[in-house]
Amino acid sequence: MTVNRRDWLKQSSLAALGLGFSLRSLANEEGLPRQFGSGLGIINLGSNENPYGISPLSKKAITDMLGEANRYPFNIASLKTFKNEIADYYKLSPGQLLITAGSGEGLNLLARYYSGGNIVAGDPTFGILPNTAKKIGTQVIEVPLTYDKVHDLDAMLKAINQQTKLIYICNPANPTTTILPPAQLRDFCDEASKKTVVAIDEAYIDYVEPPDNESMLAMIDRNPNIIILRTFSKIHAMAGLRLGFVAAHPELIQKLSADYFGNTQFCTSVLTQAAVLASLKDEEHRKNSKQKNAAARKYTVDALEKMKYRVAKSHTNFLFFQLKNYKDDFAKEMLDKNNILIRSTNYSDGNWCRVSLGTQEEMQQFIKVFKEKNA
Ligand SMILES: Cc1ncc(COP(=O)(O)O)c(C=O)c1O
Repeated sequence: MTVNRRDWLKQSSLAALGLGFSLRSLANEEGLPRQFGSGLGIINLGSNENPYGISPLSKKAITDMLGEANRYPFNIASLKTFKNEIADYYKLSPGQLLITAGSGEGLNLLARYYSGGNIVAGDPTFGILPNTAKKIGTQVIEVPLTYDKVHDLDAMLKAINQQTKLIYICNPANPTTTILPPAQLRDFCDEASKKTVVAIDEAYIDYVEPPDNESMLAMIDRNPNIIILRTFSKIHAMAGLRLGFVAAHPELIQKLSADYFGNTQFCTSVLTQAAVLASLKDEEHRKNSKQKNAAARKYTVDALEKMKYRVAKSHTNFLFFQLKNYKDDFAKEMLDKNNILIRSTNYSDGNWCRVSLGTQEEMQQFIKVFKEKNA
């Protein structure tokens, strides 16, 4: 590692400012040290990654595909139907899908496509779409979440005006981990989509338990003003492989594609595509990840609540909880003193932490450190 830790911290704080993530800790994706983990002894609970890794079927698919890595995806027989297979799995038509290199690209694309008016979003919410919008001069109307850290749908509906191009809902919500009941969200989509376009980011939907895990994907068949974003970075554990999609009415998908690569076959690698197709066939692996995540979540929430922390009800692979009295940059202290990477932000109602759920052992280490701090 050529950058020492102090320099890295300095650089990452600059990157954090530049990126304008709504969670302003040092622990941003751009600034991660190259060798965290065993080398530096850092436990990374900062990026909501899936610590259990990709399916063994995906690993084999990648290895088998390595010999074809010199080819474009469209020249490989087993990948010619890639988009159709994704569409089939999600009960969509291929025309309703835009494949992107991670859903972050989809969010960025939407911010650029729906510019020139305003965008309505929760506050706080996941940063890519609103921050990109702000960067290019679009007004973002930020609607505070409720006391329970849930999107305030009535207030969001009221915030829509003549200039509103898009409303963004992250469900389950990042950074706050909460969900909206499906019936309530469906009614909201019906109502809001009469006035503007509604984009629902379902990055963490696979962690939600039934009956609350109902996706809004089915709505796009009957409503041209609904857009859904999904990613393979979370339950499929493919954050490093980069695959996501935007699902919407075929006419909109065509227009968005024209603003993207035209042919999305160019935006993702043959290794990624092979891994994704294999992962879709390994439901058992995903079930296993989900169960381990739920166990680590229960352990961590119980321990924090026992210490009297206020923890938002999590339906995801991360937690959001309020510190008691701490006023400084808590994420920085955790990294500097304890080698644990988390996020923390000062909001009007206090200092809140976002902590990704690592393995049981990692969470035990986190709780051990936390008990000593009583922050
Ligand atoms: C709510 C939400 N949407 C989208 C993303 C982007 O994920 P990716 O670009 O890896 O698909 C993330 C990543 O953490 C997220 O939390």
